[in-house]
Amino acid sequence: MNSIPIALTYDDVLIVPRRSGLNSRSEAVTTTRLTKKINLHIPLVSANMDTVTESQMAIALARLGGIGILHRFMTIEENIEEVKRVKRAQNFVVRDPYSIDPNKTIGQAKEFIAKCGVTGLVVANDDGRLHGILSRRDMMFAENDHALVSEIMTPRAKLIVGVPSTTFEEAKNIFAQNKIEKLPLVDEDNKIIGLITSDDIRLRIDYPLANTDEKGNLLVGASIGVKGDYIERAQELIKAGVDVLVIDIAHGHSDLMFDAIKNVRAACTDVQLIAGNIATSGAAQELCEAGVDGLKVGVGPGTICITRLVTGCGVPQLSAVMNVAATAQKYNVPVIADGGIQKSGDIVKAIGAGADTVMLGGSLAGTHESPGLIINRDGKKYKVCRGSASFAIAERRQKVGQEKKEMNEVTPEGVEAVVPYKGYLAEIVGQFIGGLKSGMSYTNSRTIGELQKNCDFVRITNAGLRESGPHDLQDVR
Ligand code: XMP
Repeated sequence: MNSIPIALTYDDVLIVPRRSGLNSRSEAVTTTRLTKKINLHIPLVSANMDTVTESQMAIALARLGGIGILHRFMTIEENIEEVKRVKRAQNFVVRDPYSIDPNKTIGQAKEFIAKCGVTGLVVANDDGRLHGILSRRDMMFAENDHALVSEIMTPRAKLIVGVPSTTFEEAKNIFAQNKIEKLPLVDEDNKIIGLITSDDIRLRIDYPLANTDEKGNLLVGASIGVKGDYIERAQELIKAGVDVLVIDIAHGHSDLMFDAIKNVRAACTDVQLIAGNIATSGAAQELCEAGVDGLKVGVGPGTICITRLVTGCGVPQLSAVMNVAATAQKYNVPVIADGGIQKSGDIVKAIGAGADTVMLGGSLAGTHESPGLIINRDGKKYKVCRGSASFAIAERRQKVGQEKKEMNEVTPEGVEAVVPYKGYLAEIVGQFIGGLKSGMSYTNSRTIGELQKNCDFVRITNAGLRESGPHDLQDVR
């Protein structure tokens, strides 16, 4: 019995404060690595759970400096659409703007606008030359749906246009001076090369930490499995523009995982590939040697997880992160601490244990941007949060042809529950990052790299844990 090692989780420890040279937490910089090639401005990743990450969450989190990993419990077509939504949400230049023929009717234009979710269209016929713009303002009083687009649009002669090499600063000035909403870019033959919108300019100003690709589109990840259509899904997701794939299975240290890594690498050579979930140094070593670009750690710590109860297997999360990170560092592979993060202090501890980023499920499940409707119960608002290995997901997977088992053959390792509605993601992220930066200040860490090195943990007792929260108070209400 004495040879059984102790493993710890976040609440078992505290970080000993150090003398700090940071005068303000604003001096702490949270830039970090998601994979070997992808950096993030803040170390937050939203979980690939169906109650956490679809395009709305991925857009909101990428704008704030993190990244969302789309879940995969949908058809490949739906998955592609989700990636495209994120990619279209923000651009510097829209390279392939939605366009309409000048001979279509206003009724047809309205339908097209609603379908595409945009505010206006460039007007061009088959030759791709600019005829005009059909803007929000043009449409505002257009009551006759039978009128032609060419009659209502702002014609080319009245348009201010840019050239293909127009820079962000130049575009910003043109918008400011001319109070326009859209700036089409055309070449010397009047062919449409792209479109810059005032919304995109505003977004770049409003979200200075947004993580974008070289085209100015938001970064997004997507998860795949190790069976069925996963190779086709991976290829299609990459075609749609996904930046990183996460091969995500409950037990990532398995032959199935190694086969999947080999197959995905063969089919999609250049993709940034994260693999998980794991909890040991041995798994980290083998996956790093198999050539992954990131590791995801966590067997059973999640809010809705019952893996440890059902299987008896798992490793408390702080120890799991320490074990994996120590090995991953030798291979220069970044680590995501996935699951069990409830408070900002847990993020500080996870990074102090060696993680580069943290993945959040339950704590983002109740936000405005998470999928699903708000439920009202006794005057209080809730949203649903469910495990990816729950009955509910097995049913969802069955509907899209991913689950072949009968429901009575499924042994769930996750539950379905409600979590309080928490409002907008920005507020939650603001609190998490505020706490992280304060933790960086307490440990004299100006960077995430320094935080990874500067944490001296002490184990605490139940009395210490009790002392750490509010205590010996009476409820105000
Ligand atoms: P939190 O604590 O942030 O954890 O809610 C999110 C992570 O939990 C994992 N996950 C599961 N684990 N059964 C499990 O044992 C499940 O059904 C399940 N669903 C999600 C996953 O790693 C996620 O990122």
